[in-house]
Amino acid sequence: MSSFQAEPFKIKMVEKIQQIPREEREKALQEAGYNLFALDAEQVYIDLITDSGTGAMSDKQWAGMMLGDESYAGSKNYQHLKKIGQEIFGHQYILPTHQGRGAEKVLFPLLISQGQYVINNMHFDTTKAHVELAGGKAKNFVIDEAYKTDKHHPFKGNFALDKLADFLQSTPREKIAFIIVTITCNSAGGQPVSLANIKAVAELAEEHGIMLVFDAARFAENAYFIKLREEGQQDRSLKDIVREMFQYADAFTFSAKKDAIVNIGGLLGIKDDEELYNKIRSRLVPYEGFPTYGGLAGRDMEAMAIGLEEGLELDYLEYRTSQVKYLSDKLTAGGIPVQQPPGGHAVFVDAAKMLPHIPYYQFPAQALANALYLEAGVRGVEIGSFLLGRDAETGEQLESPLELLRLTIPRRVYTNNHLDVVAEALINIKEYAEDLKGLEFTYEPEVLRHFTARLSPVK
Ligand code: F0G
Repeated sequence: MSSFQAEPFKIKMVEKIQQIPREEREKALQEAGYNLFALDAEQVYIDLITDSGTGAMSDKQWAGMMLGDESYAGSKNYQHLKKIGQEIFGHQYILPTHQGRGAEKVLFPLLISQGQYVINNMHFDTTKAHVELAGGKAKNFVIDEAYKTDKHHPFKGNFALDKLADFLQSTPREKIAFIIVTITCNSAGGQPVSLANIKAVAELAEEHGIMLVFDAARFAENAYFIKLREEGQQDRSLKDIVREMFQYADAFTFSAKKDAIVNIGGLLGIKDDEELYNKIRSRLVPYEGFPTYGGLAGRDMEAMAIGLEEGLELDYLEYRTSQVKYLSDKLTAGGIPVQQPPGGHAVFVDAAKMLPHIPYYQFPAQALANALYLEAGVRGVEIGSFLLGRDAETGEQLESPLELLRLTIPRRVYTNNHLDVVAEALINIKEYAEDLKGLEFTYEPEVLRHFTARLSPVK
């Protein structure tokens, strides 16, 4: 047996990529207003902006695309997807949506009244946006260890149970809409939540009569970490662990663009509440589409059904998580501070530690992202104060507890050689890190500003 996990696939089709010269990258970055979202993909060599919808489908998934039954109502592919979804998640009702945020948009307004809290380990940005659009207030209860990048903890996505219990005790029941468990916890670094923690949150929710919803985008990676790291879980199959996890949820929203390895798609699952299912179906029609297609083509649903099973294969998940660890270990050996241990889908570089001379309001992780693009044509994404934005009431720039550069690894797309390019570039940047400059706005839109803002380096 080899001492490392090689790719459990061989490559059947390739897509050309190339690194444009440094002078062209400088020009491109300037024209993009120092915001990597504004670059053309062709100006990027290795694209680590997201793992969402960027995975490589398998030959089986592509074959499934040819089996698309494009009937408006009751397509074969929907029947297949529903059957696989019911088997994997154990929820009675499975409905397609065009992606994860479509599921959020349909579900959340049914559950939130004006001014109610929605509790999460850590909200993802679109999830927070949909909570607020529905009149809710988003609150995060992740454990403190999540904010200490150099402190090891096997489940940094866990809820701080004592704080959650205190909050539920001291807050009138009618002030709380529902609880979300985000698996894995993206914003903390793709960090898993343990089965014991999920169970404890479910018990608290039940005790207080509060509904529990999973934000399940990376459920398979979370299940793999439970099998790998949680006491007593080593001999269980991943499917068995997933079934137990989802038993504790009353419903789930799911972006299939991650662990189902498709380029578009999402799901809404409801465990057994028929009344809620009927309400959701009624909202699904105007927003996403008829309940048996939910904004997707039949072929997309077929690819998702197949991808749901592939994304849960043990050898695939071993390869997937070991590739993330490969980059994390290279960076660590090169003296780059990263969230430890690495999570399931990305390496999170601690830019506040790497660029201590740049204050949060000049966006150190954005400065580092730009430096990485200039150094090697690699595109990462800022997860820090630039993304967090301003206080809605005072207009003050908020200070994020972490200033992170997320290097998000698409599924089955890049080889470890590509990751070596990324690691070498960041290690080179360390040599001139103190010369990097912070950024200020030249254009700042009001809503979700990080996608379209323009910046320039401070003088
Ligand atoms: N929830 C989590 C935890 C996510 O990471 C995402 C998307 C969504 C919900 C929304 O799903 O994109 O299908 O509408 N995350 C992507 C990212 C965009 O880059 O992390 P979607």
